[in-house]
Amino acid sequence: MRVGILTGGGDCPGLNAVIRAAVRKGIFHYGDDFIGFMEGWRGVLDDKTMPLTIESVSGILQLGGTILRTSRTNVRKKPGGIEQCIATIQRNKLDALITIGGDDTQGVANALVEKGVPCVGVPKTIDNDLSGTDVCFGFDTAVSIATEAVDRLHTTAEAHSRVIVCEVMGRDAGWIALYSGIAGGADAILVPEKPIDLEMVIARIKERRARGKFFSIVVVAEGAKMPASGEVATHGKVVDEFGHARLLGIGQYVADEIEKRTGFETRAVNLGHTQRGGTPTAFDRMLATRYGSAAIDLAHKGKFGRIVVLRGREITDIPLADAIAKNRIVGDELLELASGLQAVIKK
Ligand code: F6P
Repeated sequence: MRVGILTGGGDCPGLNAVIRAAVRKGIFHYGDDFIGFMEGWRGVLDDKTMPLTIESVSGILQLGGTILRTSRTNVRKKPGGIEQCIATIQRNKLDALITIGGDDTQGVANALVEKGVPCVGVPKTIDNDLSGTDVCFGFDTAVSIATEAVDRLHTTAEAHSRVIVCEVMGRDAGWIALYSGIAGGADAILVPEKPIDLEMVIARIKERRARGKFFSIVVVAEGAKMPASGEVATHGKVVDEFGHARLLGIGQYVADEIEKRTGFETRAVNLGHTQRGGTPTAFDRMLATRYGSAAIDLAHKGKFGRIVVLRGREITDIPLADAIAKNRIVGDELLELASGLQAVIKK
């Protein structure tokens, strides 16, 4: 088989591990030939490729980022974009295209599948919000980084008797906030799934001081909504080609409100892209390797229009359309766990 691979959307630790596993299994086991498209769907539009060989995927397992680079190019926004992609795929005589990405990337893949393009998906995003899979690779690394940051914030907050509000990524889902907040023992966790109750956050911080603890840590998801407006905080009005705004500022907003209403010195920290950079955890390398290997198997079974997923301990596959149908947000069971620990603050 001649197989193309692309990585689209925000990068995430483990992308290279997927590429490596698919190429190695494809070449060693099936005798396949590979090319990589550069910068996600942009590379397919412009027919910008690089050869993927055993040599070119050597030494990349532990590397963050992606050797194919990435972009948030939305083919469906370009006049004739879908047709241009189909022409590139035909010109390169591809029998299969492995699309490694989140809902945006897989949405484009699904549109191509509907036109007969043989795509197989791999679920990627630190946000962990793709439906149909228990976990996306990259999430574990992002949570580890955020948890370590929360640990570090504890000691500096305590030394200065401060409140520190830590803003983490996750778009419209509170997975990173909830996991890092619970694992890091935050005093309050604020997520997009539930309206923020600032009064309760403030009451809890005051209660803590009354008990003789002179610092507090609040973890807030970037997509949590501002209580007054019910809107997300954004950096300007810029949106990407998929219509996503740049989420930024809820942490500072919450910190300002806490300082104003309690008089306690408060700082805001935004972890931003540090959560996406660097070396993947062993868990993510393993999951990415399993996904990459399963994706090439799926292509050889001719099961196109499907995406590999993790269910429990098993790797299986589901229709691409199901994975992108809706965002997977944090469910009530986990929110209740955090509430029981007095961690999540929700109305
Ligand atoms: O979707 C992954 C993600 O890291 C989100 O958590 C975040 O909102 C967004 O990407 C940031 O995108 P960019 O890298 O384009 O700033």
